[in-house]
Amino acid sequence: MDPEADDDGVKRASPSVAPAIDTPHATEWLLHAIVENIPNMLFVKDAEELAFALFNRAGEQLLGLPREALIGRTDFDLFPASDAEFFQKKDRETLDGKVLVDIEEEPISTARGVRWLHTKKVPILDAEGQPRFLLGISEDITDRKLADTALREAKTQAETASAELEAFSYSVAHDLRAPLRAIDGYSAALLEDYADRLDDDGRRLLDNVRRAAQRMASLIDDLLTLSRATRVDLRREQTDIGALARACLEPLLRAAPHREVEIVIEDGLTALADPRLVVVALDNLLGNAWKFTSKQPRARIEVGAAAPRAPGEARTFFVRDDGAGFDMAYVGKLFTPFQRLHGASEYDGTGIGLATVQRIMRRHGGRAWAEGKVGAGATIYFTLEPDATT
Ligand SMILES: Nc1ncnc2c1ncn2[C@@H]1O[C@H](COP(=O)(O)OP(=O)(O)O)[C@@H](O)[C@H]1O
Ligand SMILES: [Mg+2]
Repeated sequence: MDPEADDDGVKRASPSVAPAIDTPHATEWLLHAIVENIPNMLFVKDAEELAFALFNRAGEQLLGLPREALIGRTDFDLFPASDAEFFQKKDRETLDGKVLVDIEEEPISTARGVRWLHTKKVPILDAEGQPRFLLGISEDITDRKLADTALREAKTQAETASAELEAFSYSVAHDLRAPLRAIDGYSAALLEDYADRLDDDGRRLLDNVRRAAQRMASLIDDLLTLSRATRVDLRREQTDIGALARACLEPLLRAAPHREVEIVIEDGLTALADPRLVVVALDNLLGNAWKFTSKQPRARIEVGAAAPRAPGEARTFFVRDDGAGFDMAYVGKLFTPFQRLHGASEYDGTGIGLATVQRIMRRHGGRAWAEGKVGAGATIYFTLEPDATT
């Protein structure tokens, strides 16, 4: 039978383990218990020799040595000389400066291999203000450090892989342009030089070849633009979004002077952004607004900024039209490459524009999102900086 257990078999706290709180050595007992139970390594060194005077249980576990092997020793007895020199240099800084020294990361050789510690060293001064002891508190951060390193490596690998893939698709797309131009060019030459020897069917087939080649060329151009949006270095400057929007609309208006489109561009639309990328985004957004209002007699296209809803919220810009709109049930597809909610026979396009817009906003730390309703127009919102409120 357990000698400490009572008749009923239940263990009672024995006074030799935990004295009543009002006994003379209760405080001492409690302090000792706290030191022993703190889950960080605690150690004390004397200020003269820097020999260890105290080690707690977590310290023994961390170093893989019992305290008998530690007390009375110095760092030079326990660790490689270069480690010991570093530890003692920090000890002297603490004691001479009479300040807390925070060592965020230090490696230490232990019986269990190298561990990483976050250590704080505190001088303990006597009544005359002279340093007598050094208190050390070390947290074992090895697991966190290994996880950090693994994460950083994985990130670098992913970035490298993605950059390689991006460079690969860029050069593939780029190199496809020349043969494509040849196909289109030779078809055009055939149509012209052999016009008298081709019948209507022959000419129609060649026209189809040219149309397909031209469509593929615009797909490639759009893909190259998408790729460039990821690859260029971001260079922010004060950017006049209103002026860029006007410049994007100008060729559209000139090419279709018969269209009745009311253009509204708010004043003061400036942002700290890369104008080379913003102009690509606006080209896509205004191109869409122009295209999806093209089947109605009158249209309105608006470029503006929404009032912030909370302090610190990123400034939200928008491009709005009152055209064909789209079904909000499929809004998630809008920004995915090659996804289109309107058929090619209705409105032509490659489906890469909004994916490019999204990438440009992400490059700036912002994002793009959309609202729309079938037959009632669409609004594409975007921000060009991270949102401090989310
Ligand atoms: N202003 C808009 N109004 C209605 N639908 C739009 C608008 N902008 C984009 N969309 C929808 O999102 C799809 C993807 O847009 P985008 O990537 O620019 O491709 P594209 O213009 O080549 O079709 C479009 O095919 C269309 O279905
Ligand atoms: Mg488009």
